[in-house]
Amino acid sequence: MLHEKRILLGITGSIAAYKSALLARELQRRGASVRVVMTKAAVDFITPLTLATLTNHRVYSDFTESEERGTWTNHVDLGLWADAFLIAPATAQTLSNLVHGASDSFLLAVHLSSRCPVVVAPAMDLDMFAHPATQQNLATLSKRGVGIIEPESGPLASGLEGKGRMAEPGHIANWMETWFAASAPMNGKKVLITAGPTQEPIDAVRFIGNRSSGKMGYAMANAFIRLGAEVTIISGPVQLSAPKGVHELVKVQTAQEMYDAALLRFESMDIAVAVAAVADARPVKPHSVKLHKAELPKSIELEPTLDILGSWGQLKKTSQIVVGFALETDQGTASAQSKLASKNADFMVLNSTSVSGAGFDTDTNQVTIFEKDGNSHKFDLKSKAEVADDIVRTILNTNN
Ligand SMILES: Cc1cc2nc3c(=O)[nH]c(=O)nc-3n(C[C@H](O)[C@H](O)[C@H](O)COP(=O)(O)O)c2cc1C
Repeated sequence: MLHEKRILLGITGSIAAYKSALLARELQRRGASVRVVMTKAAVDFITPLTLATLTNHRVYSDFTESEERGTWTNHVDLGLWADAFLIAPATAQTLSNLVHGASDSFLLAVHLSSRCPVVVAPAMDLDMFAHPATQQNLATLSKRGVGIIEPESGPLASGLEGKGRMAEPGHIANWMETWFAASAPMNGKKVLITAGPTQEPIDAVRFIGNRSSGKMGYAMANAFIRLGAEVTIISGPVQLSAPKGVHELVKVQTAQEMYDAALLRFESMDIAVAVAAVADARPVKPHSVKLHKAELPKSIELEPTLDILGSWGQLKKTSQIVVGFALETDQGTASAQSKLASKNADFMVLNSTSVSGAGFDTDTNQVTIFEKDGNSHKFDLKSKAEVADDIVRTILNTNN
């Protein structure tokens, strides 16, 4: 499946461009987010309006949006957004441009600035395809790591018959699925994430809880799944649906239940991330029935709960990575650094409620990631999905 994959679909000036509409649909049907970039020649074959309607997003083909207003489209951002840049159809001209690093169209500038892998699905007449220049261009691109989806043989638009037809949309989508599965950087990695709040019973209906929404933990799960990891979430009570593609979602209520589930699974994991806001203490004697108003105690005796992150840190093998979150109400740098050391974690992610839009029950967050070797990375206020990408990328970069 292409769930959560971000595919930038490049369309160039081939008659096969009519199939790109079906391709965009097919990629989306399999779960991908699709953005479209077209060359000027492609616009003669299929309208941007068709692709914009199908993808529910504007189509990019030019550097400037409005010459009078001086607004322009950022090709660098688009390149960085994508998990893969799929050029389908790819003309002989575009293949040559890619080889030479040309940048005189928006699509080519995106190609040069994208950090994601590039895949091409060539489409052209049989002689153009068989020409040594085209074959040499494809060989050069292949050597550079560009994925080549071979064209098919059959009747061509020219009336001739031979190899040069762009692969069918279903075949291209299958190819992308297999390729993502084989090349995902977190392929084969097992990730355990705790998420959400815990609820510590006072009586049969009342509890001590906190305002954690689970959004950050679930966003972390999505980011790991997108990179191919097998993700298990141990989740306190939240109003969120299970991320698509999650391997196991264990629902718990109390800190003790979360601790038991988290410790049971830790040994077989490659990465464990403690995002949940686990209660630090719980009532010593919860009542099994609902207390009436007059029966409510004046004070509630508390006892500490077990420390999931600290226990992971103690049990950790050298091959395992443990990540903690520190939520502070002040700036929090010193306490995040001391928590990193005392819990024997590899990364500590600091988020502070003192920053507007960060912390609990928001859709955005602002984090600083501390590494055990002393490095730290401060990020801007972003959506929790983007913050999760930043955290996962930091973990990946540090361990590659
Ligand atoms: C009707 C028509 C069909 C074309 N089909 C193809 C094609 O399938 N493959 C190809 O490489 N070029 C084809 N071309 C030529 C390209 O459109 C031309 O080389 C153009 O410069 C490609 O620009 P681009 O790669 O920037 O989109 C076709 C041209 C026309 C007029």
